[in-house]
Amino acid sequence: MDLDGIDAIGRTAFEVALLRAAEDRRPDRLAADPCAQLFLEAAGITEQKRDFAELMGPQVAVRTRFLDEALLSGGARQVVLLASGMDGRPWRLDWAAGTEVFEIDQAPVLRFKDAAVASLTASCVRHPVVADLREDWATSLQQGGFRPDRPTSWLIEGLLYALDEAAADRLLRTVTWLSAAGSTLAFDHVETSAALRAAIGPDLARLWRSGPIDPVRWLTRHGWEPDVRDLADVAAEYGRQVHPAYDPAAGGTARAWLGRAVLPATNDER
Ligand SMILES: C[S@@+](CC[C@H](N)C(=O)[O-])C[C@H]1O[C@@H](n2cnc3c(N)ncnc32)[C@H](O)[C@@H]1O
Repeated sequence: MDLDGIDAIGRTAFEVALLRAAEDRRPDRLAADPCAQLFLEAAGITEQKRDFAELMGPQVAVRTRFLDEALLSGGARQVVLLASGMDGRPWRLDWAAGTEVFEIDQAPVLRFKDAAVASLTASCVRHPVVADLREDWATSLQQGGFRPDRPTSWLIEGLLYALDEAAADRLLRTVTWLSAAGSTLAFDHVETSAALRAAIGPDLARLWRSGPIDPVRWLTRHGWEPDVRDLADVAAEYGRQVHPAYDPAAGGTARAWLGRAVLPATNDER
């Protein structure tokens, strides 16, 4: 299948798929994801840099399980996966009947994905929405059938590190503006670090930004009530260890977070 037109940031979706497929093969896997292998086979991708897998493999395994739980417990029947890439959740999660899942990503990424899943049946009502998250994506989402008057479960996964602080703020402002009271949000974030830059190589490192420096402040500034955890603590609960760079107990200094948040009844940004 055609990867032409998928840019460097779009191709990072396949790096995540490689890690999810590896996790899927483990007998003690934290999350099953048969779609990951399907995407890789469609793309003809088999290999990954070993140091990248060592650094990010545990993070992806832990975040996938944490964010699965957050989405399924969010309770909303309207879900938005921002920058969904090769996320298999529309097929692999057991959604409540009638749940509508919107997937936003770049056109070439969604074109590839739609072709790859042509023979699968989603366990939700799936709406792919082509949009650039740096532009007016709110209009595209609403034109795709999204209803801002209904509570939404938002997912921001594998995206914040590609945004600078101002872009992360603009993204959350729009999310908040589109969110009815009671909406929830779940995210992961990894601080850029020397270990990360070395593992991903100079081409990808150039795409890496800070994201929100302080995820709790980022959320509270926009009116959300956050519950933000250190990646290493969540990993320990699941019986996994993260890479030492992200583990304060192992002397790691790079920070990594997993979090969820709820928007209470008063939403000043609407
Ligand atoms: C690392 S992948 C993460 C994919 C998915 N969320 C996951 O965790 O499996 C990053 C994704 O963000 C998308 N992306 C990055 N910048 C974007 C933008 N400005 N607008 C839309 N999508 C974007 C890329 O196309 C890619 O699919």
